[in-house]
Amino acid sequence: MWLEFFFITTVKYFCIMIKNKHAIGVFDSGYGGLTVLKEIKTCLPEYDFIYLGDNARAPYGPLSFKTVYEYTLECIKWFFKQGCTFVILACNTASAKALRTIQQKDLPIIAPNNRVLGVIRPTTEIINEYTQTNHVGIMATVGTVKSNSYVIEINKFHPDINVMQLACPKWVQIVERGQILTTKDKSIIKEDIDTLLARDNKIDCILLACTHYPLLLNTIKMYLPTTITVVTQGQIVAQSLLKYLKKHSEIERNCSKNGTINFYTTGVVNDFNTHATQFFGANVQAIQINID
Ligand code: DGL
Repeated sequence: MWLEFFFITTVKYFCIMIKNKHAIGVFDSGYGGLTVLKEIKTCLPEYDFIYLGDNARAPYGPLSFKTVYEYTLECIKWFFKQGCTFVILACNTASAKALRTIQQKDLPIIAPNNRVLGVIRPTTEIINEYTQTNHVGIMATVGTVKSNSYVIEINKFHPDINVMQLACPKWVQIVERGQILTTKDKSIIKEDIDTLLARDNKIDCILLACTHYPLLLNTIKMYLPTTITVVTQGQIVAQSLLKYLKKHSEIERNCSKNGTINFYTTGVVNDFNTHATQFFGANVQAIQINID
């Protein structure tokens, strides 16, 4: 009986390992990264992906630098254990607070040939294409805003652009709850938008610098004049990944291509399946995992 259980578990484990070997990893604290994965999948349908949402520990936005770094590194190591060698942090908070340290300090030691990329650089590189007034609003988590990453990066690429940031601490919780928006949710969203526009009335482009926020896009647009362009990151990151793979054939060659996606969550699997299916727009059957 025990032997049989051991045998089945081992076979199952190896099947999953083989399935995930050389898939591209996509990581987020929760559901937000699905908005990026959806666009990546459309752009690169032949590749294999594994998605991990650290729902049990989301939101990352209010957590300290140290904690976001530790959680993100734990998740990156989990991807590597699956046989993934290339991971996209589809999370601005993790990209802002953990990516650089992971790239510079951890990767050279734990996996020098593996790659981890984020979402901030591809977005800031081309943000000028969306503004005429050169006044850009950034809506993001407290962590991303505090890191100042967007201000620094935009300034590097486009010194003539004025950036006004606003932290929207309640928006990720609204998304993670995964329910129809209440009147109170809508008034929180409206209030934050009004606050940002009151701080700079020349803004003609708002970047949703949190991958959860596109899941609130319809409501956000309801409270904005049509003259303001709302920029989401999914397509930008997908196009940038496409370019990256074209440029780095040594990485591209290593990526498996069977058109599969496997989903994992550290949270409650039934909740994840229900909300992820709704957000991703296709049936999602995730596996629950423990990271710590
Ligand atoms: N999707 C993450 C981001 O882009 C959400 C952050 C959170 O968990 O607070 O920042």
